[in-house]
Amino acid sequence: MKQSVKMIVGNWKMNGVAADLAGAVAEMLADLQQNPASARVGLCPPATLIERMARIIDGGPIMVGGQDCRVEQKGAYTGGVSAEMLVDAGARAVILGHSERRQEFGEIDALVSQKVGAALRAGLTPIVCVGETLAQREAGQAVSVVRDQILGSLNDGLAGRDWALAYEPVWAIGTGLTPTLDQIAEIHAAARDAMIERLREGGRAAPILYGGSVNPGNARDILAVDEVGGALVGGASLKAADFLAIIRAA
Ligand code: PGA
Repeated sequence: MKQSVKMIVGNWKMNGVAADLAGAVAEMLADLQQNPASARVGLCPPATLIERMARIIDGGPIMVGGQDCRVEQKGAYTGGVSAEMLVDAGARAVILGHSERRQEFGEIDALVSQKVGAALRAGLTPIVCVGETLAQREAGQAVSVVRDQILGSLNDGLAGRDWALAYEPVWAIGTGLTPTLDQIAEIHAAARDAMIERLREGGRAAPILYGGSVNPGNARDILAVDEVGGALVGGASLKAADFLAIIRAA
């Protein structure tokens, strides 16, 4: 199924300080206000910038998001940020289960599913990430790994809500490598099946974003693949010209 309104989301990871708001974000905003995008656009800065970014965007054409949240609403969790706190700061979406969190913080599917529940409780749009490692792909396990992650990481509450899945092969993140268009099509089709297996009719509507080394040169081809409903963009979302080019390719 071709999805008409694509969703393009930038993940700044642990990059960005106030100066980038006056630079890159102001530039993106001016461009999108002058010439509205056909895509839905989101930007997920580090937690320290969410409030200031949301103030600058001020209800404009970029949805601000977090990169993670805790399951709990508040409490004695030093360093933690809850979904409700993200909303309070001005966020409307949150990336959950990114492979960097799965790898570095040991996040497993069951925890990601609970975090999805927390995001929904707070009214955020969850962007749930899945993807195989290179070793798993080479062992012929890409489809089964992604299916298992989807079955384990989604949450019953997603049915009927605004959310997105992001397929991000771990070996393509930040490496400049991307799967072939056929490989992307294969996984996105399998991901849709798993979403429907998990959520029944509730698994049909959410877009499936592709993520991993998306850049202005490959975005148009990737976004034209069946069942690619948008892109989750890391490195290229830090530069206004690159991110805008990807948005314009959608
Ligand atoms: P990348 O990161 O675009 O820099 O490969 C994508 C991501 O991790 O979301």
